[in-house]
Order: sequence, then C-alpha cells, then structure tokens
Amino acid sequence: MVKFADRIQKIPEDPLNEIMKLSSDRDIISFSLGSPSKEAYPTEFIINATKKLLVENPVSMLSYGLQEGYVPLRKNFIEHIAKSRNINANLDNVLITTGATQGIELVSQVLLQEGDKVLVESPTFFAALPVFKKYGATVIPVKMDNDGIDTNDLEVKLKKYAPKLLYIIPTFQNPTGITLSEEKRKAICKLVVKYGTIVLEDDPYYDLRFIGEHIMPIKSHDKNENVIYLSSFSKILAPGLRVGVIIANKEIINKLVLAKSGADTNTSLLSQGICSEFLESGFYKSHMNEIFPLYLNRLNKMIECIEQFFPDNIEFIRPEGGLFIWLGLPKEIDTKTLLKTSSQKYKVSYVPGSIFYTNPSEHQNFIRLNYSSNDESTIEQGMKRLGMVFKDYISGLFF
Ligand SMILES: Cc1ncc(COP(=O)(O)O)c(C=O)c1O
Repeated sequence: MVKFADRIQKIPEDPLNEIMKLSSDRDIISFSLGSPSKEAYPTEFIINATKKLLVENPVSMLSYGLQEGYVPLRKNFIEHIAKSRNINANLDNVLITTGATQGIELVSQVLLQEGDKVLVESPTFFAALPVFKKYGATVIPVKMDNDGIDTNDLEVKLKKYAPKLLYIIPTFQNPTGITLSEEKRKAICKLVVKYGTIVLEDDPYYDLRFIGEHIMPIKSHDKNENVIYLSSFSKILAPGLRVGVIIANKEIINKLVLAKSGADTNTSLLSQGICSEFLESGFYKSHMNEIFPLYLNRLNKMIECIEQFFPDNIEFIRPEGGLFIWLGLPKEIDTKTLLKTSSQKYKVSYVPGSIFYTNPSEHQNFIRLNYSSNDESTIEQGMKRLGMVFKDYISGLFF
C-alpha cells in the first residue's frame, strides 16, 4: 500500500470530476462548465499571433523563460489592464502564472501553514477550498448579501479567528454572480489593515460586464499593500492557454517566484506571447465588444426560460455579467442527488450548489447554471428539460 502524504489525504475527492463524467455524454445539454462560448474563441487571431511569434522568435518562444514571466506580457498587462483598473504596479509587482488556479496554489504554498485560518465567501469557488485545506488551513465561511460579503460578519470573524487570508471573488462571483459594492471594497481594505489579514482577490470575470459601470478592484484601494490580485486570460481569451497574472508587493512576488520555480519553472512562453499580442494589438477591446451581445442575449434567454419553464418559488439574482446564474430551488430539492437522474434520464446537467460550501449539507437546493456556452435554441431546449426535472421531482413522478 502506498503511504501518501497527509496533505493529499485532506482532499477527499474532486467534485468536478464526477460532474464532468455525468456531463460527458454528447446528448447531454451541459450548463455545468465555466468556459467561454465556442463562438467566442478567437481561433483566427490565435493562429495568426502564433505564426507571428514563431516566425519572429522561433527558438526563444519555444525555450525556457523567466520565472516571473514574459516581459512584454507583464508590461502590456500593466499598460492595458492594471492602469484601467486603477491598480498601481511596475514590473516587480507582476508574476505570470499557469492560470489563476496556479495563483491560488502558489499563494497558499507561500503563506499558509498548519493551523492558519482562511476566510471565504459562503458560497465560494469550490476548487479553492481543497487548496487551502491541503496547506493545513481551516476554512471559515463568511455570509454573503446581495451586494457581496457581509462586512459585519467579516469583522466578527476577523476578530475571532485572526485569519491569515481572506479569499474573495468581488466581481460576478463564482458561483453567485454577485458583485461586491464599492463601499464594501473600501471597507474591506480598512478592516484587513486593522486585523492584519491579507486579501487574495480573485478577479477573472472583471471584463465580462454587459450591464452597468465597472467597479474598481479592491486592489485599487489597497494603500497598505495587503491585497494580492489574481487575474486570468481564461474567460476573455481561451482557458487552454493557461495564463493568469498575480499583482502583489515585491516582497510577496519574490517568494511566489521561488514557489513558481519548483512548480513549473515558467508558464509556456508561446501562450504568454499570444496573450501579450492580444493586449498590445488592441484585439482585446474589439473581442470584448464582439462577445458582449452574444453573452447578454444568452443571459436574457436563460432568464426568460427560468420564468417560463421552472416551478414557482425560484430565487435568483439577475447578474450584470460573468458567466453564471445562481438559483435557489424549493428547499426539499436535493440537487446533488438529482444530478444523476437529470443527466442520465433528462439529458441536461448543472453544478449542484452544495459543492461551493464548506458545509455542503446545508445548501442542497441550489444550482449554478452557465449561460455562455450554449446557443439560444440549445438553452431553450435544455432549460425546458431542466424545468421538467424539478417539476417532476416536486410532483413525485420519479420516486
Ligand atoms: C473564481 C475563479 N478563480 C479561478 C478560476 C480558474 O481560472 P484559470 O483558468 O485561470 O486557472 C476560475 C475558473 O472557473 C474561477 O471561477
């Protein structure tokens, strides 16, 4: 028998693995993933950028690179993204990662140790939870309101637990789609200074705002350098490139570079080169303008279908962007148990809400739906099926 390390024993299973298996059948209409729509992958731009990079610098693009990341990408990120979000940064503050996922991993590796506490929004991005636990931390949920984390509950828990880290997704949160208000962003900056906690601000959905005005990141109010900012190209360009960005103070970046070195030396230079071209060429802006109407129409279609096909007493918040709708069903529905029947018999899948909680048994009646991946007629077909799943369940048809 292999004697595995304690840290891996702290991760019981990958909940997504099971969900992916249940959605893998081609006949299933999947509302499970958080990927861009297939029409939103700019393949022609990526082919041309790849050709340009390989013709101009064939050897260096296929070689090892700096652990900190490709200098033109770091410069372009500062110029085209950080500045527009009121984030002050220079090259020493920027580290390129292999997706924001690696950002969460590296920050945890560098900051967390056995016995530390991490505060998270409840619910939160499920993939972050096992990472914090793997590095010995106890994860403590903080309540959420319709305008983001409940700052009163946050203060109570900052005082009570003296946490090392607050992990927060302020814009179009995964899974709720909720955006943290500007007042709360400012309040969080003050609170974490008072209690000596570091904020890990995970912001992959910032650009995907279809309605209303942008709200600047928490990092833009961070006078005391308490905030580590994570960004990603997965939702605005292509997740397969695996490129993310960390902005933090120099001292933190230096430690993260040490961790990055042992993890994968550097993120693929070719992927970084494509992301750099994406920003520098101006294609970033035009691409966003092109995908917004597509996503907004799909969001509207999904909401129309909820109203048309779902049972009464459904709760949801209409998001102003991002990729998800978070839906509360009548209390008696256990969406995790129902997923098997839903995907195998009704051929439609979703992500059950319970996986986003530290205590999954309390929130079994929620689901997360992705609206970006399917076209409008597929959304209609899938939502009709899903409405039927819940209505049939309520009327006791399949038990
Ligand atoms: C909040 C959040 N953080 C991080 C990630 C992972 O991003 P990446 O593809 O850059 O690793 C996701 C992806 O779904 C996410 O929703």
